[in-house]
Amino acid sequence: MPVDELIAAFVVDVPDFPSPGIVFRDLTPVFADAGAFRRVVEALAAPAAVDPRAAALSGAARQPDFDVVVGVEARGFLLAAAVALVTGTGVVPVRKAGKLPRERVSADYALEYGTATLELHTDSITPGQRVLVVDDVLATGGTLEAAVSLVEQLGGVVTTVAVVVELAALGGRQRIAPHAVHALWLV
Ligand code: PRP
Ligand code: ADE
Repeated sequence: MPVDELIAAFVVDVPDFPSPGIVFRDLTPVFADAGAFRRVVEALAAPAAVDPRAAALSGAARQPDFDVVVGVEARGFLLAAAVALVTGTGVVPVRKAGKLPRERVSADYALEYGTATLELHTDSITPGQRVLVVDDVLATGGTLEAAVSLVEQLGGVVTTVAVVVELAALGGRQRIAPHAVHALWLV
């Protein structure tokens, strides 16, 4: 089954959550199913080599075009850690305000149903480091725009922004431009 159909089969739409008028796309059933979770993680990592040990054994030349995966709190953490593992890279958290203990950069932003602040440890990205930014949902793009700006403030180079679901009508992709958005399911 194509990965977009697989995702569509597992996502549960919840009307009026967390506020009236919002249709919340609940991805927890996708994460809870072993087969669906693996498919989604491997698809997010594409076109990076999945399982570098297998790639090395077969002499395959495909390597990730990123050095580190950045995951956005909280649902992005589940995905980013798994993508890092299958691509042989490390994972760095972008966290909501007040959670990171050391020197950090901050960005305020608005999302589909509120406002918040994201933060990133200043020593977690080195200048020139290539970064894959991962989250579950791209809605208005406020969250991922803020995450990208934090990475760039530290001199990181965002190669791709990867999400499971893109709510295309909300225009998030335009907000992230010119960065490439790799979305597994457009709805
Ligand atoms: C959700 C989702 C994305 C963001 C997308 O996170 O996981 O990060 O909204 O919305 P946007 O494109 O309009 O910015 P949320 O802030 O609800 O946090 P959570 O993962 O901690 O539930
Ligand atoms: N984040 C922002 N908008 C969302 C939605 N409609 N469903 C799930 N997560 C979201």
